[in-house]
Amino acid sequence: MSNGGKSRRPPKPQNNIPKKGDMGACGGGLPALKPPSMPKSQFPQAEMVACAVQTSPKAHTRLFFFQPNKKLTEINVKRGSLLLDDQTLFKDESVFTPTYVPTDFRHRDGQLKALAASIKPGLRSQPPMNTLLYGPPATGKTTAVKFMLKEVKETSHKLLPVYVNCEDATTPYAVFAKIHEALFDVYLPDTGKPLESVKEKVFKKLSKDGRSLAVFLDEFDALLLNSHADKVLVDLLKASDTYGYSQVGVVAIMIDAGALSRLDDKTKSVFNPLHIHFAPYGEDEFRDILKDRVRYGLYADVFSEGALDAVVAETVKRGDLRFGIQLMRQAVYEAEKEAVKAVTEKHVYASASRQDSAAELSSVLSALSDEDKALLLTIAELKDPVSGRVYEVYRRKTGVGIKKYNELVKKLEHLRIIDALYVEGVHGRTRRLIPRFDVGDIRRLLGGGGGS
Ligand SMILES: Nc1ncnc2c1ncn2[C@@H]1O[C@H](COP(=O)(O)OP(=O)(O)OP(=O)(O)O)[C@@H](O)[C@H]1O
Ligand SMILES: [Mg+2]
Repeated sequence: MSNGGKSRRPPKPQNNIPKKGDMGACGGGLPALKPPSMPKSQFPQAEMVACAVQTSPKAHTRLFFFQPNKKLTEINVKRGSLLLDDQTLFKDESVFTPTYVPTDFRHRDGQLKALAASIKPGLRSQPPMNTLLYGPPATGKTTAVKFMLKEVKETSHKLLPVYVNCEDATTPYAVFAKIHEALFDVYLPDTGKPLESVKEKVFKKLSKDGRSLAVFLDEFDALLLNSHADKVLVDLLKASDTYGYSQVGVVAIMIDAGALSRLDDKTKSVFNPLHIHFAPYGEDEFRDILKDRVRYGLYADVFSEGALDAVVAETVKRGDLRFGIQLMRQAVYEAEKEAVKAVTEKHVYASASRQDSAAELSSVLSALSDEDKALLLTIAELKDPVSGRVYEVYRRKTGVGIKKYNELVKKLEHLRIIDALYVEGVHGRTRRLIPRFDVGDIRRLLGGGGGS
């Protein structure tokens, strides 16, 4: 335990410790690092016996705390600032972002094998099997496709795999433009060539190269809803009729397999996919997957067992893995805000209710007019949103007069989005407009900037 931080020698440097010349002694070099105003919890003081300092050209100072029989603790401090706002518990924050492809794709071996079997004929210059991946949100369908794309690209040039998100590529032209881009590495603007000439160019090139084509149509529901699904499928799968090219397979990805009934009978018979089901995860599966995020994304011992239990419980309650991953990230922010070194269930539950409130806010905002939103954003951006000041800033932004402004305030109050509370101001009684939702969420969702 502590000896008062005086004279014990630090343990021998380990591999990841900065080299000798980079370090300075804690006692001599940084006397100001423990100001009385700093919360104790920010430093492992009780057990700390020595520290070393490494500076970088980016005006950051890294503190390395040596503790007997414990791992090295590393804290980043902005030089010249003792606010410690650069400290982080994340080893790799990208692990919690939507585009992260997990290192271990757990509990989906069966689905991956089935998908590989569908794609395999393409590696022998045959058409891949038409396939449908379906199942509830966040069950790993897109992730399975990303794994497969990577695998095919690393394995063989005989097959061209093309990923299309049909929420972005909403027309047959846009789908073929994606294939064109993958094949020629050239982006086609939407107003470019006629569809037929793009198709001809694509299929001729594939025939000439003797390559098969696997098109992964993610969010396929979007094409079913806008009625382009039949044309896209027929254009791809009946290319042999016009261009003599028949090595195409389509993998459609969607939530509800039943929605395929919207296809024409002719398309159904041309497409006729194999089905691969992505069943919802159970509690143990959620736990395994979420534990991996802790392992890859956070420093050791940061996420307590209790916090993990709480995240798993909240994830099971909503049946949504995406929610769980987001919740973990948010809980880490909560702990960082308090400048503590471990995330506990308290942080998880606070974040869960914040996420619920953000979801509610987003649905409330969708019903507001642009004028209402601009006013709400003005309120959220002001440090002290007393009514007169809000009006001044809002009028400058929008030119709206006082009568209309008062109506809008009343409307936001009536919708229970803000409270207008009477307070004593410098010039007598005035109203302070207080949002009922988190101002950070309001600014984020309405795309606002900082406060004033
Ligand atoms: N088995 C798994 N192992 C690790 N992470 C997973 C697994 N399944 C899903 N995920 C993660 O869950 C999130 C959602 O997964 P994904 O986007 O693949 O779901 P989806 O089934 O395509 O959902 P949607 O129908 O909403 O598009 C991603 O962050 C993904 O990394
Ligand atoms: Mg998806």
